[in-house]
Amino acid sequence: MRVTFIAAECEPWAKTGGLADVVDALARALGTQPGAPVDAPIDVYLPRYRSVPVPEGAPVTPIRVPDPTALTGTTEVRIVDVAADGYRLRLVDHPPAFDRDGFYGDAAGDYADNAWRFGLFCRAALEAIRADGRATDVLSLHDWHAAPAVVFRDRWYADDPVIGRAAAVMTLHNLAYHGWVPRERLRELGLAVGDPILVEDAGLDLLRAGIDHAELVNTVSPGFAAEALTPQYGMGLNGTLRAKGDRFVGILNGLDTTLWDPATDRDIVAPFSRGDVRGKAACRRELLVELGLDPRDPSPVIGMIGRLDPQKGFDLLAGAAPSLIADARLVVLGSGDAKLVASLRDVAARRPDRVALLERFDRALARRIYAGIDLFAMPSRFEPCGQGQMIALRYGSPPIVRRTGGLRDTVVDELSSPGRGTGFAFDDATPVALLAACRAAIARFATGGAGWDSLVDRGMAQDFDWTTGSAPKYVDAFRRAVEIRATEHRGA
Ligand code: GLC
Repeated sequence: MRVTFIAAECEPWAKTGGLADVVDALARALGTQPGAPVDAPIDVYLPRYRSVPVPEGAPVTPIRVPDPTALTGTTEVRIVDVAADGYRLRLVDHPPAFDRDGFYGDAAGDYADNAWRFGLFCRAALEAIRADGRATDVLSLHDWHAAPAVVFRDRWYADDPVIGRAAAVMTLHNLAYHGWVPRERLRELGLAVGDPILVEDAGLDLLRAGIDHAELVNTVSPGFAAEALTPQYGMGLNGTLRAKGDRFVGILNGLDTTLWDPATDRDIVAPFSRGDVRGKAACRRELLVELGLDPRDPSPVIGMIGRLDPQKGFDLLAGAAPSLIADARLVVLGSGDAKLVASLRDVAARRPDRVALLERFDRALARRIYAGIDLFAMPSRFEPCGQGQMIALRYGSPPIVRRTGGLRDTVVDELSSPGRGTGFAFDDATPVALLAACRAAIARFATGGAGWDSLVDRGMAQDFDWTTGSAPKYVDAFRRAVEIRATEHRGA
């Protein structure tokens, strides 16, 4: 079975969030499935943004791609092949679309021509697949940026022997971004009001269209798959997802356990592992010294890492912080929303001895924090899967999470399941509820002893490896999508 990924992010070339990690790790894991159900290496199509380095001598294939905005109706795009670790990365290079400061926008907001940019990206990927001479069985499409691929398939390639028979699997990483194309911009996709492919006259919701047209849709945890069917979490797509019935499933993301392993992590001062956690104390000491916090103070250190974004619940932390720092220290690493930064800065400025705020994105520091903290906070309002909590578990730092989406699926609450838990969970998206959960966690930490050690150990023992857990489920989903396409496609 030949599988082709189309995605707007892929670690380490282009990343703003967890999407990039998942595309990279899943592509690699699929290529190493025992019994080789998937032809390896698989192809991953990614826009060649300005910041993406192109290795010297990488093979380049120019192709002509239909472009409704070009005078001649087609434009030249270059496909640059890069041998990645475990898959073939195919960069879609078209400077007018992608040689810009940001991936999706700049300080002024989203780029106005995103429909054209990602439409062209998808069109180029489809044309490159045709030109490649090797048909693909599955188009694995990630988030709204890749949704045009299946819309185009059904609009222009239904009778194409290569693209027409390919099954589409739409993977939803973040329902908050739909890729809305207003009617006056439909022509950038080659569409017009009244086109049979459109369901509404006001424009086109690309993510909704991707869901409608794909043979199978999945999101990145069973917990979020259930939530997405409700108005509270469905972001206006709950009805569309309900209509998919059993063709909408949840598959929990894995964690690349070779990339995230405290036993081999070169960014931490003392390696440690489940069998021998002694190194963690040295990691803690070094981290506190580095951040100007007192390493002899026994009070617990709670860490939080991520995009400073209301989704992630940083505002809940900011609200809880003034009371929380009476009993714990806080380490926060991330950048983003200016208002959130300001409120956290305020707390940090008043108590620099209790709070370290690092306003940046720093891969190595993130690793030192995961290894050096005592507890990890992830109070997300919604979380399709989340990766931080899985890393924290593996690095021996029990997570404090809101009971939602993938957090619900990956962390067992010690308060409701004493002696079986791996972390702490709460329900309400309020600073008060977060504070109560932190206090319960702090109390357990302070008691220490064998009880605490086994809580940490249970967390470190969790197996989130892609190859054993989630990748085989994707293989099943791809197989199902292929069967559905074969029976339902009129050209079949
Ligand atoms: C998005 C989601 C996050 C998920 C990631 C990868 O960033 O918000 O929950 O882990 O995609 O699937």
